[in-house]
Amino acid sequence: MSSNEMNGTVFAPDNDLSENAYVSSFEQYEELYQKSIESPQTFWGEIAKQFHWETEANPKDFFSYNFDTQKGPIFTKWMTGASTNLSFNLLDRNVKNGLADQVAYYWEGNHPDDYSRITYKKLLQEVCRFANVLKSHGVQRGDTVSIYMPMVLELPIAMLACARIGAIHSIVFAGFSSDSLADRIDDCKAKVLITCDGAWRGEKPLEIKAICDEAMEKAAKLGHQVSKCIVVAHLNRVTPGCVKAAETIKSTPWNDDRDVWWNDEMEEAEAACYPEWMAAEDPLFMLYTSGSTGKPKGVLHTTAGYLLYASTTFKNVFDYKPGDIYWCTADIGWITGHTYVVYGPLANGASSVMFEGTPFFPDNDRYWQVVDKYKVNQLYTAPTAIRALMKFGDEPVLRHNLTSLRILGSVGEPINPEAWLWYYRKIGKGKCSIVDTFWQTETGGHVITPLPGATKMKPGSATFPFFGVKPSLLDENGVEVVGEGEGYLVFSQPWPGIMRTIYNNHPRYEETYFSKFPGYYCTGDGARRDADGYLWITGRIDDKLNVSGHLMSTAEIEAVLTEHKKVSESAVVSRPHPIKGECLYCFITPNQNEVFDKTLVNELKKLVRERIGPFAQPDVIQHAPGLPKTRSGKIMRRILRKIAINDRNVGDTSTLADESIVDQLFANRPE
Ligand code: WTA
Repeated sequence: MSSNEMNGTVFAPDNDLSENAYVSSFEQYEELYQKSIESPQTFWGEIAKQFHWETEANPKDFFSYNFDTQKGPIFTKWMTGASTNLSFNLLDRNVKNGLADQVAYYWEGNHPDDYSRITYKKLLQEVCRFANVLKSHGVQRGDTVSIYMPMVLELPIAMLACARIGAIHSIVFAGFSSDSLADRIDDCKAKVLITCDGAWRGEKPLEIKAICDEAMEKAAKLGHQVSKCIVVAHLNRVTPGCVKAAETIKSTPWNDDRDVWWNDEMEEAEAACYPEWMAAEDPLFMLYTSGSTGKPKGVLHTTAGYLLYASTTFKNVFDYKPGDIYWCTADIGWITGHTYVVYGPLANGASSVMFEGTPFFPDNDRYWQVVDKYKVNQLYTAPTAIRALMKFGDEPVLRHNLTSLRILGSVGEPINPEAWLWYYRKIGKGKCSIVDTFWQTETGGHVITPLPGATKMKPGSATFPFFGVKPSLLDENGVEVVGEGEGYLVFSQPWPGIMRTIYNNHPRYEETYFSKFPGYYCTGDGARRDADGYLWITGRIDDKLNVSGHLMSTAEIEAVLTEHKKVSESAVVSRPHPIKGECLYCFITPNQNEVFDKTLVNELKKLVRERIGPFAQPDVIQHAPGLPKTRSGKIMRRILRKIAINDRNVGDTSTLADESIVDQLFANRPE
């Protein structure tokens, strides 16, 4: 054990790291935290000073909210009266402050021989040009724009171009199926879709435009037609090692009335565009997250509060200093990419690596090769990636020099202590702080997280709240758990980055997050507080599950499975998985006279891929002649979870309508 490891479970930050950090002791953290809770206006008002405000906030109305449905509609407002523009703060302001020639992104493609970079000045010009392109196609302030793209530089350009003209971007992760994309285009009534011809993932070609064409057709059938589709030519990049894959990609499908090439449009566009000044609470973007009732929820974030929160969490949690090279491996299609690949880093004038590839191509050392190549100081990735890479042992790690690393981040799901320790010892060499950041699409930024120079770490604990965040643990009756204990993780007051509503559905927002415990925002996660006050996230306590950091709801998957004409009933539970964290285990009751066979299993897997996306494919689909139900017809998922892990210790089954079904289900396990 290194000298930093104290009593086996607590790890103190490295001394040098602490001394030089923005927040360099736990006492300092506590002081700042108290201030953020007691005087939010002073605390965030001070932070706001570094940004440009076209009009200032009204000091008498800086912060107001209601979290209690019994007192009226739920709302959160920060900086009423202020107006600003995100792209102006992220680009023009930094260029004016001397960062024109600083690299904003080192772009690293799918193949190591394919890379480029873009400076702040160039990024500003490209954003302005694309903003003018959007305008030329009739996109105006308040319109929505859907984006379905791989990790190419045109993606942040497109986002910030939307922000520049006050259009709301709705990015759909490019792993979603055409059905999912169609639903999302239709729900937000996107005027324009921005995409790309295709991309490679390792050696696998992805026909992205073809998926978009299907989605646009399906959206039209749902009643909404996009007026333009702007397409980036990405496949014409010569990607070495992917020649074979290139041959297999068909020529890009095209509709002359609707589709235009990005490059053709950009040629004529002017490289200057006056920003649209947006009110503090005007929408900035929406991002869909899975909902319990099938229909995805368009989580809406607004302007001023999101800027303050994304920039402040980025700066303090990653302790980003000028000159550092930061790398977040998340896809921009998820919230982690929005806040910590784009808005947070650029608001701080940071230099980031943006990565299109996978950890496994061309070899399993790709992450470590990229860290070494760019001398990355902060690496932010997911437990699922860490667990997958651990499998290959230390050799791929030892091929590279990782001494530039100072801070290691984890996000998306609880990190198991074994993975935490491997990350700490093998990647961080016992010198880096690990920030296990707990947050959600809805929270906009980190809400429970260590600060790297201040917080002593415990492997698997997200530790303490960030500035402005007031967590509580509640029991089933809404009574607060004080001291050591476990309960529902809730927040009793808003921080600047919290979501403001569900797009076009405020009642659903109030119902989903505020109805269970009046006065609190309910995360849907459980947490435990230990004797030292550390918070440990125990996982979802609603019907959601987390597969490789992708959140989905069991109800959503069940709805897809029962669409199949041979299926009478289905129940989906989560089962622990060594790499993915959790995986889907599905029980299927076929209709009378239908057989349950391999063909049906394959058809069901295909259906889930088509309706949701490849990442949602179930690991196990088993035959269930019946489901364990109570006499009132409620499926006892607790028992199904035991069957999924082959644990005979199912507990009390006396409330079941038919107890014999349990034995049948054990006998039917496919493995
Ligand atoms: C889970 C991702 C434990 C949690 C940023 C949450 C975590 C859901 C952590 C949100 C963590 C995220 N420890 N669990 N450090 N980070 N989660 O909206 O269940 O894709 O509610 O946002 O991921 O997933 P989402």
